[in-house]
Amino acid sequence: MSNRPDPALPWETSQRRNGARRGAVEWWHDAVCYQVYLRSFADGNGDGVGDLAGLRRRLPYLSELGVDAVWVNLWYPSPMADGGYDITDYRDIDPLFGSLPEARTLIEEIHTLGLRILIDLVPNHTSSQHPWFGEALAGGPGCVERNRYIFRPGRGSDGDLPPNNWRSVFGGSAWSRAVEPDGMPEEWYLHLFTPEQPDLNWNNAEVHREFESVLRFWFDHGVDGFRIDVAHAMSKAPGLPDLGPADIELIGSAAHPDHPHWDREGIHEIFRGWRAVADSYAEPRMFVAEACARNSERLSRYVRPAELHTAFNFDYLTSPWRAAQMRTAIDKSLTTMAAVGAPTAWVLSNHDVVRHLTRYGRPQAEGPVHDLADHLLAGPFDLELGTRRARAAALLTLALPGCAYLYQGEELGLWEVEDLPDEALQDPIWQRSGHTNRGRDGCRVPMPWSGDTPPFGFSPDHAGSDPWLPQPQQWERLTAQVQQDDEQSMLELYRRALHIRRAHPALGKGALLWDPTTGPGVLAFTRPPGFQCIVNFRPDALRLPDHDGVLLSSVPLDSGRLPGDAAVWLTR
Ligand code: NOJ
Repeated sequence: MSNRPDPALPWETSQRRNGARRGAVEWWHDAVCYQVYLRSFADGNGDGVGDLAGLRRRLPYLSELGVDAVWVNLWYPSPMADGGYDITDYRDIDPLFGSLPEARTLIEEIHTLGLRILIDLVPNHTSSQHPWFGEALAGGPGCVERNRYIFRPGRGSDGDLPPNNWRSVFGGSAWSRAVEPDGMPEEWYLHLFTPEQPDLNWNNAEVHREFESVLRFWFDHGVDGFRIDVAHAMSKAPGLPDLGPADIELIGSAAHPDHPHWDREGIHEIFRGWRAVADSYAEPRMFVAEACARNSERLSRYVRPAELHTAFNFDYLTSPWRAAQMRTAIDKSLTTMAAVGAPTAWVLSNHDVVRHLTRYGRPQAEGPVHDLADHLLAGPFDLELGTRRARAAALLTLALPGCAYLYQGEELGLWEVEDLPDEALQDPIWQRSGHTNRGRDGCRVPMPWSGDTPPFGFSPDHAGSDPWLPQPQQWERLTAQVQQDDEQSMLELYRRALHIRRAHPALGKGALLWDPTTGPGVLAFTRPPGFQCIVNFRPDALRLPDHDGVLLSSVPLDSGRLPGDAAVWLTR
């Protein structure tokens, strides 16, 4: 079968590269981390929302898949104005998901399986229902509690204009006006996301102390690392100057040289403080930044030796399925990260972007796509082509030097659900865009595990509630149960690739050498010792170079030729 390795490869029996599993120092250099979007992973109590009980039950699946770490998205108490990125208590678990004792049990179970656990840290904003924000409102203008957030008087004679022209990432002004209990409008507060997510004031030492204490709280509970939410946002320009025309155009891309609230110098001091906290633990702890910087050199500043450990490579994620653009993203990242001694964190999908299988199943842009919502409904979607390319992309990603992040469901070949009914949509982007942008719910639809009708084993049998987002009936073909042991399935391709990656001495950390003889539309590189990856982005088949064996291929080879939109791992 196409994706079976040659038997009896000498390194396979030795399980050589077990480094990413617990016990290894600097495990983040080559770990494969699996992102669990908790609300949509597995529902243990039948309320239609994923939870810790469901995740605990599915841990053997993750272990057998062959990942090294699990990033558990948002479990904190939250009114869920933005899917949980609006936190009311950074030291507890939302009852919707479970309890703190259950989280402790989960952490232990993950460690017992030899895996690591990462969780989210959301430092740019709290929920507007966080006790601090309540105190800030109650205390009135000028009170010390208000200085934990960014309050300002309005402009105009009545103060009824926002303090500046900053825009919320989700649409509309980034300012909302507070009101006194008697209904009198007073100061405005900043929220770069929804009004329910007020921005914290990182010029206040109390905010620094609080977050360092939160880090210690979870490190003391055994958490191995944090994914830092909008790591490029905490520092704001003194005086909060208006955005210039170029800044407004590029909102969200952080591409302007002196943006007043993205990617500013001030954030690095915060990270140096956090690194000292992480380094104070005997067992290694790490951070991965969700940071948008204006270029890869700027991004590499987040992962300098005394700062964070890794940062998602969004240039790779936003590249169209084209050899030249992919190669540029790979080269730039490897060069800039190597200059500061950090690994690249490869990623193709997450809970904020259109699933890559769907992106790749559409006509491809010429250059990087900054707003991935542009992929939604942009041109006809070819499921077969998207799946074929997603299979090849998995082999490319897992063959690159560094660590990799998988988003739940990509190993099942899930696509973006683009036809969710309007009334099902929950992402605040839908409301705030005036119903012009359908938001990110399409990549957050609950996982199909088994059976032939929704909820496909996501919730227990006879659950009281439907899944919080409806699953397409066609996912009956994609359940983990159906794909298990089907050698042609996406799930078996991922399992096989992860197994080889863990065992092969060339994979994970190490060098990448491009093959200088390949033509346009092909990426080919060797990883010493003895490993070669070839990806054919062209529609026509490619004759393979001399090799000793085929480790894995994304589609069956055709008499020594690699078909179009396919990838192969060779020994040579
Ligand atoms: C990035 C998160 O991934 C996204 O889901 C969230 O809406 C924003 N940050 C705001 O916290």
